[in-house]
Amino acid sequence: MSTQLPEESETETEAERTETPGDRRRAAKRSRQQSSGAQESAETDEETIHIKVFRYDPEIEGKMEPRFDDFHVPFTKGMTVLDALMYARDRFDTTLTFRHSCRQAICGSDALFINGRQRLGCKTQISEMDEPVRVEPLPHAEVVKDLVVDMEHFYDQMHSVEPYFQTDEKPSDDLEEQRQSRENREKIKMSTRCIWCGACMSSCNIAAEDNHYLGPAALNKAYRFAMDEREGEQSREHRFESLDQEHGVWRCQTQFSCTNVCPKDIPLTEHIQELKREAVKNNLKFW
Ligand code: SF4
Ligand code: FES
Repeated sequence: MSTQLPEESETETEAERTETPGDRRRAAKRSRQQSSGAQESAETDEETIHIKVFRYDPEIEGKMEPRFDDFHVPFTKGMTVLDALMYARDRFDTTLTFRHSCRQAICGSDALFINGRQRLGCKTQISEMDEPVRVEPLPHAEVVKDLVVDMEHFYDQMHSVEPYFQTDEKPSDDLEEQRQSRENREKIKMSTRCIWCGACMSSCNIAAEDNHYLGPAALNKAYRFAMDEREGEQSREHRFESLDQEHGVWRCQTQFSCTNVCPKDIPLTEHIQELKREAVKNNLKFW
């Protein structure tokens, strides 16, 4: 009869109450490492995160075949997936290629497919991911190199909805402020948060099959202006000409995949449904 085991399990239970899932995962990993080879050097004792990164380089012979490379990156508190990629690039392989800029979920350049889901690398805490952390380029886009995809089509769709303010009547004085009611600002507030990351488009099965579909991000951008009370009826009608089309709002099948992955929590599916209702209302005729 052991008297020690209950004490140990009590200690673990206490720890489970106070530690985060990431802490528990790392503790389990440490104990695995210790039991499988305590003779390793101090370097092995350092806590590392295992990332598996998609690699592909169409310009270099021998790297044209897509593959995954493994990197073991020292873990530091607060580390994001982007931090881990930067460490791997700076310390292990300078040819590792990916986009990033702001590192604070603003520029939208590091949308990636991380552990099977579209996420921003800089907004994803690596301690919350299961290991090995699998990092891939956004699906449904052509890979240029490693984690970099061609965003041209996405930008084309965004620009096709004329993502800028257009008003029927210009104010007489160029400097005159164009006021918006609080209610209207509130209505479009979430739609203005888009950072053009392309995560929603990548998650959308319909967009993957139909290259002409405007896609959730462009429709959300159109919503932002079509619902802006300052634009006026004429501009609104003009906007609905391209939205009320087979490849516009009507292509959406309400799957919610875009809404689920949007890093800015924009209710994309809801906005698209509202555009559909508006399109129907615009077409109603009374005799
Ligand atoms: S709507 Fe959301 S997921 Fe789509 S591009 Fe904008 S921020 Fe990214
Ligand atoms: S680096 Fe800018 S959004 Fe992540």
